[in-house]
Amino acid sequence: MVSYNAEKRIITLSNGNISYVIYINPNGVLEQLYFGKYWEGQEADLAALPVRDGGEILDMQTGEMTHRHETRTLCYEISSHGLWDKRGAPIVIPKENGSTVTDFRYLSHKAYKGIHPLATLPSAKGGEEDCDTVEFLLKETSRELYLTYCLTLYRDSNILVRHFALENKTSAPVFLDRAMSMQLDLPSSHYDIVHFPGRWAQERDYEENPVLDGVQEISSNYGRSGHEENPFVYLKEHKATNDRGEVIGFNLIYSSNFKFRTFVNRDRQLHITYGINDEDFCWKLEAGETFETPQAVIAYSAEGIDGMSQAFHHFIREHLITYRHDKEYKPVLFNSWEGCYFNFNTESVISYIDDAIKIGTELFVLDDGWFGARNNDRLGLGDWYVNRQKVDLHKIMAHCKEKGIKFGIWFEPEMVNPVSDLYAAHPDYVPGEPDAAELSLHRHQLHLDFSVKEVVDNIYAQMKAFLQEYPVSYIKWDYNRVVNEHFSRHYPADRQGEIYHRMMLGYYDLIGRLTREYPDIMFEGCSSGGGRFDLGTLYFCPQIWTSDESDPSQRIAIQYNTSLGYPLSTIGAHVNDSKVSSYKTKAILALFGTYGYEMNPNILTASEQEELREIAEIYCKYHQSVIGNGTLYHLLSPNEGNLMCMQSVSKDQTASLVILMNYRKEHAQFRVIRLRGLDPEKQYKNSYTGTVHSGTFYMERGIDFSSDGFASINCRLVILTEEA
Ligand code: DGJ
Repeated sequence: MVSYNAEKRIITLSNGNISYVIYINPNGVLEQLYFGKYWEGQEADLAALPVRDGGEILDMQTGEMTHRHETRTLCYEISSHGLWDKRGAPIVIPKENGSTVTDFRYLSHKAYKGIHPLATLPSAKGGEEDCDTVEFLLKETSRELYLTYCLTLYRDSNILVRHFALENKTSAPVFLDRAMSMQLDLPSSHYDIVHFPGRWAQERDYEENPVLDGVQEISSNYGRSGHEENPFVYLKEHKATNDRGEVIGFNLIYSSNFKFRTFVNRDRQLHITYGINDEDFCWKLEAGETFETPQAVIAYSAEGIDGMSQAFHHFIREHLITYRHDKEYKPVLFNSWEGCYFNFNTESVISYIDDAIKIGTELFVLDDGWFGARNNDRLGLGDWYVNRQKVDLHKIMAHCKEKGIKFGIWFEPEMVNPVSDLYAAHPDYVPGEPDAAELSLHRHQLHLDFSVKEVVDNIYAQMKAFLQEYPVSYIKWDYNRVVNEHFSRHYPADRQGEIYHRMMLGYYDLIGRLTREYPDIMFEGCSSGGGRFDLGTLYFCPQIWTSDESDPSQRIAIQYNTSLGYPLSTIGAHVNDSKVSSYKTKAILALFGTYGYEMNPNILTASEQEELREIAEIYCKYHQSVIGNGTLYHLLSPNEGNLMCMQSVSKDQTASLVILMNYRKEHAQFRVIRLRGLDPEKQYKNSYTGTVHSGTFYMERGIDFSSDGFASINCRLVILTEEA
């Protein structure tokens, strides 16, 4: 609900759990009076906040020294730039005379139910019954530049979505040096900041440190959200735990360069800005044009980390992912990559399919190597036609059909190898200065210049021709390098600061066209594993390949940490051939994601097949209700010790799956774990002891894992089912 007290100039957005309160001060500066837990009568309390002196000015017309303005808080919605506020404005637009002063003041606002989609970027969904929006119109004090600031609060979860749109109503172009999506000021900085740095095969490590005085940045400038940092970040009050304390999470519906910046001033107040990284960014906005920033998403929890996680999970499933079958059962997937890499032919693929079916496969995916001259990673990217000498895809697809399983294929649409037909015909299709002495290669490949429509159209036409001939059920959309040369020969000098963003718009354009035209194909995102695991990609792809590392020694933390911000249904998880852990251990971990395989299935023994089939059956039975659409609880964090425990509970609380990993086989004599999220009144049988207890018993007394010499194994799966 949005309420406006015109007399006090206070706007309150509230969903009964939390509220966001904005005061339009007499100078038209939007002050944030409060963000947090809702309480009865809060508006009256907040209206009584004392007025502070906002400083002194010399009036250049009268020569008088007067108060600058009154202010109640120093928590603003949009700081100015180039004036007294030095904390960092979200938007900076220099003037023609070189001054960078940018100062937006309130003109009007309106409130409505629902949320409007962005015209140029993937964005959150929400009908009249889902959320409330307040939309402010502000004007730059000295120019005809108008800023629309949208702030939406969801009713079914503590999620805020916000962004800016800047309209140039002057008669000349302006240059946006910075165009971030949000500012959030908090009255104190007593938080720890948690972020997820990483690298290939070790995505989303966990790092926690107190919010530092001065500036701290979590960012990417690689042209993708990246392995190096993820756009998901959260603040937790110092003593917050999984189920207690204040936690505020942030994410961005965007897949390219981002910057999350905190600044703590001398009063220990916390100032946050978040949005497109302003490094190498400059957008030329012509007269009459509008620039939209990506939407930032904030999850608020007064009940610990899981309150934030669950809010994000719910938002992503209900209000972001567009794939129309997302809520349905996702088939057990077999991916050919780690089993055979580029070395396959029609017969070997068919023998893979036959053995993959024995372990429960329902969707067979032929990964890299089926097109052009792609017999190794130096060749063929950009040539999206079947290598008919190597593989007969019609025969393979007919075989899948006959066996009653689906078929999927791999693409890497944004890339080209220098050795390819596409590059030979169009050397100007790659970014970089035309007279550059060298271009950087990553994995022997170049990026395509997706800022150019003709390039995107070329790949679209090729993919479309393929899909017309081969009606696949699934596409894995890979992306195996970063952008280095962010220069396009197709744009003038004063538009080179737009290239990173325009390349991202090209990605969204292509995947948007294809997902709209083929709404039944499931697209899975990928970027050398999980290098583009973000909300922009999830809008189109209901799941993302999480990491090229599938062995639990790393994977436990990768999956656990990813699940802090993203639902399990989005986490592609496969059992592979790595010899470090047993198939069973790997399979149980993969159950806490969308389950699949990635191995040579021809070498499995009968007992290994049996073991994997059993886990696949558990997946079939419980994935959709307990994992996919269930509620996740984090019980023990691998970031704090050797043990990891997660529990997912079906929405109707009739079933629950618990995973406990003791990867280093710690010899704990007593290990009792209290569960969460069960119905206290219901009786549940657990697959571990075979006994029946009430929900209260499991949540208060817990499950005792000490009795069976837990240290001798390193993984336990417990299934709880309601006993009528
Ligand atoms: C990187 C991906 O992460 C792998 O799963 C695989 O698809 C390869 N690319 C193929 O080149």
